[in-house]
Amino acid sequence: MKAITVIESNKAVGQKVVVRGWVHTVRDMGKITFVDLRDQTGLLQVVISGDMEAPRLGVEYVVEIEGEVRKRGERFINHKLATGEVEIGATSVKVLSESAELPFEIKNDTIGINEELRLKHRYLDLRSERMAKNLRLRHSVIKFIRDYLDAEGFIEVETPMLNKGTPEGAREFLVPSRLHAEEFYVLPQSPQQFKQLLMVGGIGKYFQIARSFRDEDQRGDRQPEFTQLDMEMSFVGQEEVLALNEAMLVELIAKVTPEKHITSTPFPRLTYAEAMEKYGTDKPDLRKDKADPNELAICWVVDFPMFEKNKTTGKIDAAHHPFTAPKVEDLDKLESDPLNVRADSYDLVINGFELSSGSVRIHEPELQQRVFKALGMKDSEIEAKFGHMIEAFKFGAPPHAGMAPGIDRLIMVLANEPNIREVMAFPKTGDARDPLTGAPARVADSALDEAHIKTVPTKKPKVKPI
Ligand code: AMO
Repeated sequence: MKAITVIESNKAVGQKVVVRGWVHTVRDMGKITFVDLRDQTGLLQVVISGDMEAPRLGVEYVVEIEGEVRKRGERFINHKLATGEVEIGATSVKVLSESAELPFEIKNDTIGINEELRLKHRYLDLRSERMAKNLRLRHSVIKFIRDYLDAEGFIEVETPMLNKGTPEGAREFLVPSRLHAEEFYVLPQSPQQFKQLLMVGGIGKYFQIARSFRDEDQRGDRQPEFTQLDMEMSFVGQEEVLALNEAMLVELIAKVTPEKHITSTPFPRLTYAEAMEKYGTDKPDLRKDKADPNELAICWVVDFPMFEKNKTTGKIDAAHHPFTAPKVEDLDKLESDPLNVRADSYDLVINGFELSSGSVRIHEPELQQRVFKALGMKDSEIEAKFGHMIEAFKFGAPPHAGMAPGIDRLIMVLANEPNIREVMAFPKTGDARDPLTGAPARVADSALDEAHIKTVPTKKPKVKPI
């Protein structure tokens, strides 16, 4: 007997088939029992006649049903269901596994359920229609991007996860080295340095669906680990990066979420100074109708300041990262008036969210050195932290530029979700915990010994709400 998915039942009328899935609902009418069977493709009505030998069924039991697909009578067609014109008359019902009573209902949207509970039982939450749909959307977006960039001549290259700590901004997660006592790797906050080294390595057009890690305070659009579409190109400037990303995004939206409409194309372009003056923010929300769930107002913000004053230390920091090229016309102010130097950097803003940032990079060792010095770094510090970048630039570095849209934020906006956790399979809570597995957790003393680590007891921080 042929095994089919639920959705394939539409094309199997008159055939004897096997379907497998979960009991979504069960209605025992005495002489007859109706089961809505669910698999990854949808729901299908199964009819079990009262005179048939059948096991007791409960909600979320996993079952295997044999039977014949038949057309429903005109009166019984369910127009809300993709398989609403057919049903299966069961000839055999087998329970493959039972389910305990659910901690929360998954038949309906789970958005209103306590999120800690949803995350503790994420495997149940993922069975709900909206969550499954979000994961499928995520897959479609990533697949579109891979195909698109492949056709444009890009190749995907994996870069290391165990790296040297060279803070570019956010706090990094540390990984102790067992073989090198008292030394640490850090997890990448982005593949920034490696993608630039790939350009020096002659790769030309690189991208990566890149997992990145930042140990910073969480918000609705921030997670400690998230995914970027990281990309870089050689022999291009800002215009080529913007043109490629704009064309890709317009086509992606038309293909993957055709119900959406973009407020204006080409995307409006504002300088940072204009955005701040006109909207008082560098992330303006340019939607015409904020009540329209399908409107996407996308704009570019360009020419950010190269540096900003750190409010706590009073020192100057790189506004984007120190590999960003200063504008040629502002180069003479690098030492004398750094806070008025603009950078060849750009952000992509969508409905008021920063979706992406990027820049033209420095590829000359001397200029890179000047920028580090402008940031107040001494020669020895530059050498210790970034010597490898400066050295690489001495061996024929091509001009290059790139950017890195946040995949989670893009999907959050496309799915009309209020935060990025709704579009991630297994996100962390607001205070960076995983209620499902219990991470982070203490490890065995032997593991600490091997990693040459002594822990200092500290008061646990209060658990923050999500
Ligand atoms: P940036 O730090 O701006 O740039 O990050 C790029 C994009 O990544 C997303 N993002 C996040 N998403 C979820 N949770 C987070 N904690 C988080 N942090 C950032 C945002 C953001 O716009 N290497 C540079 C890019 C480049 O210059 O090419 C970089 O990482 O959508």
